[in-house]
Amino acid sequence: MPKKMIGLYPGSFDPVTNGHLDIAKRAYDICDEMHIAVVANPSKKALFPVEERVELLKKTTKHLPKVVISSFNGLLVDYAKEINANIIFRGLRAVSDFEFEFQMALINRSLHPKIEVVFLVPNEKFIFLSSSSIKEVAKLGGNVRGFVPAVVEKALRRVF
Ligand code: PNS
Repeated sequence: MPKKMIGLYPGSFDPVTNGHLDIAKRAYDICDEMHIAVVANPSKKALFPVEERVELLKKTTKHLPKVVISSFNGLLVDYAKEINANIIFRGLRAVSDFEFEFQMALINRSLHPKIEVVFLVPNEKFIFLSSSSIKEVAKLGGNVRGFVPAVVEKALRRVF
């Protein structure tokens, strides 16, 4: 019997963008079970608290019924083991993402040899999108419509 594919798409999601959602849908279509997990470790200073990032992901993935949204502390591979995930998905937008992602994939594989890391490429209309540029545009009063879902746009307007 073919192995059940349990996917994990981790990230900061601070906040979730349409680029993240594009990757999430592609991963969802490949997997039997799909998890999206927000990192709770404070390695980067986040704009939104982890609970709100989880809530925004829940609201924006309602159209993907078998997705489970959660948060995790500690090592990604330990969380993958906890939920029995066998694939970690990451989005690759450009060559500039590659070095960091390649290093992270190899570290994760040396910590957990049974996990596969799969890179997915978003629709080209989202290739330039990042949560940090969205936050900067929103902070400076720019329009982020089309880059993030409406609930995220509203949350950004509330913060700035
Ligand atoms: O959206 P991001 O900020 O690029 O996501 C990075 C993330 C959360 C995937 C990465 O920082 C992570 O896995 N953090 C958990 C800690 C960990 O496992 N570190 C070892 C891998 S280098």
